[in-house]
Amino acid sequence: MLTVKHLAKSYDGEKKSLTDVSFSVQPGEVTVIIGPSGAGKTTILRSINQLIRDDDGEILFDNTDIRQLNRAQLRQARCRIGMIFQNYNLIEPLTAIENVLHGCLGTKSNLAGIFSIYRNREKEEALKLLEKVGLAEFAYQQCRNLSGGQKQRVGIARALMQQPKIILCDEPIASLDPKSTITVMDILRDLATNDGISVLINLHQVDIARSYADHVIGINNGQVVFDDRIQALSDTAIASIYQKDANSEGSVVHEF
Ligand SMILES: Nc1ncnc2c1ncn2[C@@H]1O[C@H](COP(=O)(O)OP(=O)(O)OP(=O)(O)O)[C@@H](O)[C@H]1O
Ligand SMILES: [Mg+2]
Repeated sequence: MLTVKHLAKSYDGEKKSLTDVSFSVQPGEVTVIIGPSGAGKTTILRSINQLIRDDDGEILFDNTDIRQLNRAQLRQARCRIGMIFQNYNLIEPLTAIENVLHGCLGTKSNLAGIFSIYRNREKEEALKLLEKVGLAEFAYQQCRNLSGGQKQRVGIARALMQQPKIILCDEPIASLDPKSTITVMDILRDLATNDGISVLINLHQVDIARSYADHVIGINNGQVVFDDRIQALSDTAIASIYQKDANSEGSVVHEF
């Protein structure tokens, strides 16, 4: 479904943020990327939907290398790649349903997009998705008045509006309390199990990875140092994923 091969990236042309990253993601699975701060987790996710241009490698999404697509093709491919952010990236003065409707902007003509012209069918779909994430009654509330957990659920509904094959989540629970964390992770798990979506999540919380992941990728200093089923994630494996690499300045060893 998604295969990343030999991905490399340097932001400054000197220090490599990713050296040679290869892994695959399967439909219907939750894949979690863990690793110390600065290891390259965000860089990997942002390369997958080409928010940043990587330097080398292949990113095969449904057997097509995303890196080789022209602008129009990339726009189309991005429609099938949902993204969820730690800080939600919602338009706060707009209502929940308006934010969800923004999820289908990529499929609209420029003019319809600029004037936010949505069909009734799209509004019904947006409402259905808000219901799916348990927020039907908040559809017409401004997002600025929602809690963090509710905002993240709006973010998920917005991503689903794109009918994604994969959802990329960069620390989706980092700003949430424990109860909202469970709500959000349960929704993501359900999207994989019941809707067959691939869910790829950057996480710092190893205990959450243990509860929700099928597959774990450990990154340290821009390299894959672990790639296996969750059951294989032993304490020794965790220690080696999080070990401070002498070459990576500023990397932080996490306590458990
Ligand atoms: N825009 C940028 N310009 C220059 N260097 C960058 C940029 N973004 C990231 N880096 C560097 O690339 C490396 C990987 O960063 P990245 O944000 O991918 O790490 P991360 O694993 O997501 O860390 P965290 O867990 O703290 O979010 C780091 O050394 C970081 O300083
Ligand atoms: Mg990051």
